Amino acid sequence: MTCPFGQGGGAGLSRRRLLAGGGGLLASAGVGTIARAAAQDTPSGAAAHEPFFGDHQGGIATPQQAHSYFVAFDLVAKKRDEVTAMLLAWTEAAARMTSGDTARPMGQDPSAVASDGGSALGLAPARLTLTFGFGAGLFNKDGVDRYGLAAKRPEALVDLPKFNGDQLVPARTGGDISVQACADDPLVAFHALRELDRLSYGAAQIRWAQTGFLPQTPAGETARNLMGFKDGTNNPRLGGAPATADIPRGFDDVVWVGAEGPDWMRGGSYLVARRIRISLEHWDRTEVDFQEQVIGRHKYSGAPIGKSNERDLLDLDRQDKDGNPLIADNAHVRLGAAAINDGAQILRRAYSYNDGVSFTAERWPPWRQGMLYDAGLFFMAYQRDPRTGFIKIFENMAKLDALNQFTTHTGGGLFACPAGVREGEFIGQRLF
Ligand code: HEM
Repeated sequence: MTCPFGQGGGAGLSRRRLLAGGGGLLASAGVGTIARAAAQDTPSGAAAHEPFFGDHQGGIATPQQAHSYFVAFDLVAKKRDEVTAMLLAWTEAAARMTSGDTARPMGQDPSAVASDGGSALGLAPARLTLTFGFGAGLFNKDGVDRYGLAAKRPEALVDLPKFNGDQLVPARTGGDISVQACADDPLVAFHALRELDRLSYGAAQIRWAQTGFLPQTPAGETARNLMGFKDGTNNPRLGGAPATADIPRGFDDVVWVGAEGPDWMRGGSYLVARRIRISLEHWDRTEVDFQEQVIGRHKYSGAPIGKSNERDLLDLDRQDKDGNPLIADNAHVRLGAAAINDGAQILRRAYSYNDGVSFTAERWPPWRQGMLYDAGLFFMAYQRDPRTGFIKIFENMAKLDALNQFTTHTGGGLFACPAGVREGEFIGQRLF
């Protein structure tokens, strides 16, 4: 299949060549200093790049980068061929950009539209990953089988139920195709999505987008979320770590679809995304020991209540001298624990978000209304089956969690992220 979007033509100027040399194009365009400055200022490690091709898509098992830019697209293509042509163009561009190159080879003809907008010229790959997912709308939209794929919709790609307290805004919910860009440089992630969006012209359009960030904690330390708690402690671990009571199953078993799924999903994963606003003003006025009761862990060490180290086991049966559970019945970690969810586990790969302030009426006491932070957690969780993963855990959590007094889910979606792309294939090819 050939790419209908063209190759840009010209002399094949790459992002890395620009990085290395301050070429003639930069000089003639008057931006030579930007490339040179970036090359000098690039922190060690930013040059590292993540492989694009492989058994699994990048951006799932990849150690979390510092920034994310997530976009859900609606498909407007009339025919299946237009969708596959877009996926082919995306594959070529994604392979190039993750290796630190421009989205398409760049020509030097100033009278032509540039085949890469150029906002990442001079920047290193910054461990960019691009993770693609298919929403229910690819298979069936408003009862219409637009692309002849309805019969191939995987059973696990369910319609998420409405959970207690959900306040999902349609303009921030759903989408036919998702792209998660993660990189250690926010501009690299945004640039990648901008270029993919350009390549999707006529076939897809943006439905919603969400940026995210993580604090730059030293390697091996768990990052804190905006509530000041370490977030990610009891995640499944890579590298065959021995099972514990808190983390009973291994990473591969929790995350990757196996023989139970269709061929194109084997080695893939299901992404549940939720944009969760946190009432930070309210949270910041509560005592630390109350916050710890809400989460079920100590704030500064990250240890389970009553323990001293972050990695100590939760020990849900422990009681205080009056016979009350040390980790409260409605504590977040108890409700999330595999032990009380029939062994359900997920990989949380969340980012904090900060979208400034907006006029908001709180739904919990103290019922303030006014200009409040629109900030919180862009929760992204990967699993082999959302029915036995997120849905299993969150159904209970949505009703009982003490954390719900501070959080409101305002958007999100469920996406089937196909297996990794083999060289010569395009994203999700085995589905089509
Ligand atoms: C703003 C929203 C949320 C915040 C601030 C938050 C924060 C935390 C924190 C601080 C921990 C303890 C440390 C750790 O093990 O990572 C935790 C654990 C956990 N959270 Fe959340 N979380 C949020 C939403 C959710 C949602 C929506 C789910 C849905 C399933 C969830 C599932 C879990 C699970 C499964 C654990 C691990 C429990 C365990 O086995 O110890 N969280 N979360």
